[in-house]
Amino acid sequence: MRDLLALSMANPTEPRIDAALALYKQAGWELMGYTADDTLVGVLGIEVTDYGRGTIRHIAVDPAYRRRGIAATMIQLAMHNLRIQHLRAEAGADAVGFFRRLGCEVVSLGVGDDGVERFSCAWSPT
Ligand SMILES: CC(C)(COP(=O)(O)OP(=O)(O)OC[C@H]1O[C@@H](n2cnc3c(N)ncnc32)[C@H](O)[C@@H]1OP(=O)(O)O)[C@@H](O)C(=O)NCCC(=O)NCCS
Repeated sequence: MRDLLALSMANPTEPRIDAALALYKQAGWELMGYTADDTLVGVLGIEVTDYGRGTIRHIAVDPAYRRRGIAATMIQLAMHNLRIQHLRAEAGADAVGFFRRLGCEVVSLGVGDDGVERFSCAWSPT
């Protein structure tokens, strides 16, 4: 779980991973895993911010298992199980294509102090 969570973080250090894990002890924060070949290969962390609204806080799939629909399946299952109709995420350039493919509306948030461009991704039922 820690290794997968680290893949979803910009600058993963052990204390930052501990802090990320601690977030999921709060009410409304849900951390889910996806298993294939008896191994944990995907992780999805969502904060249910309001009734029917969720924000993806962490998402990552083991590089050996990418492009098989695992992340999309995790999101679908989470939205169903947590009764989420409106989903948000903040993504870097690497992951923004994935959120576009999901049907999210993508808006640039600009380049931060770290020189990295971030994007707001939002999905609502049409
Ligand atoms: C982003 C990530 C979670 C996607 O996981 P995945 O299991 O490979 O995604 P899926 O297979 O479910 O992809 C669903 C669709 O999005 C597309 N897609 C996936 N990753 C993509 C990418 N990086 N760029 C463009 N399109 C992408 C796929 O082609 C797929 O469409 P198709 O198979 O119908 O053609 C994975 O690449 C990852 O772990 N990245 C590193 C962590 C990260 O950046 N997390 C996001 C932080 S906000």
